[in-house]
Amino acid sequence: MKLGFFASHNGSNMQAIIAACRAHRIAAEPVLVISNNPESGALQYARESGIPAYHLSRVTHPEAAALEQASLRVLDEHGVDLVILAGFMRKLGPGLVRTYQHRIVNIHPSLLPAYGGRGMYGKKVHQAVLAAGERETGATVHLVDKDYDTGPVLAQCRVKIRPGDTIKHLAARVQRQEHRLYVSTVAGIVAGEIVLPVD
Ligand code: GRF
Repeated sequence: MKLGFFASHNGSNMQAIIAACRAHRIAAEPVLVISNNPESGALQYARESGIPAYHLSRVTHPEAAALEQASLRVLDEHGVDLVILAGFMRKLGPGLVRTYQHRIVNIHPSLLPAYGGRGMYGKKVHQAVLAAGERETGATVHLVDKDYDTGPVLAQCRVKIRPGDTIKHLAARVQRQEHRLYVSTVAGIVAGEIVLPVD
């Protein structure tokens, strides 16, 4: 199975999955990384790792349709089977979501459907969780559909909230669990243990 990544920032989740592929814990090949951010750690990591890296954004393609076409072309050229969103801060175009229906996964730093949706990302999620006085939070891997964070859930893990937790501490603890969850979920998909819908 060939994996294509979309990432906007660090790409620490992406890096965890690529490392697991290289360690043969996931029987798949990372074939490309696309980022809307030319300065992203994700693109830098891809270049250093010898993985084809593409900056595709409104800067390279001001029109949304052209940007979507460019992304589709690159995914197709490399024969991507599974699209992995790893901290990608843009909504994918509807054509791309249709073409790769049930073959796009995302990770979100909460127990979806709680604390998901438009505008709920990064620190904002943890801030809202702490402000609500929750006793636990977590992370979710889900299939991507045309809306934000609404696709079917594939896997979740729970993280306890500690007294006096700060956004920073909670974010770091959740992210460590995200790496484990995303690696095990992608491994499960690749091994056929997690079966994605077919149509
Ligand atoms: C992760 O916390 C993920 O849940 C969210 O974006 C963040 C990306 O972090 N979708 P990284 O780029 O993988 O380090």
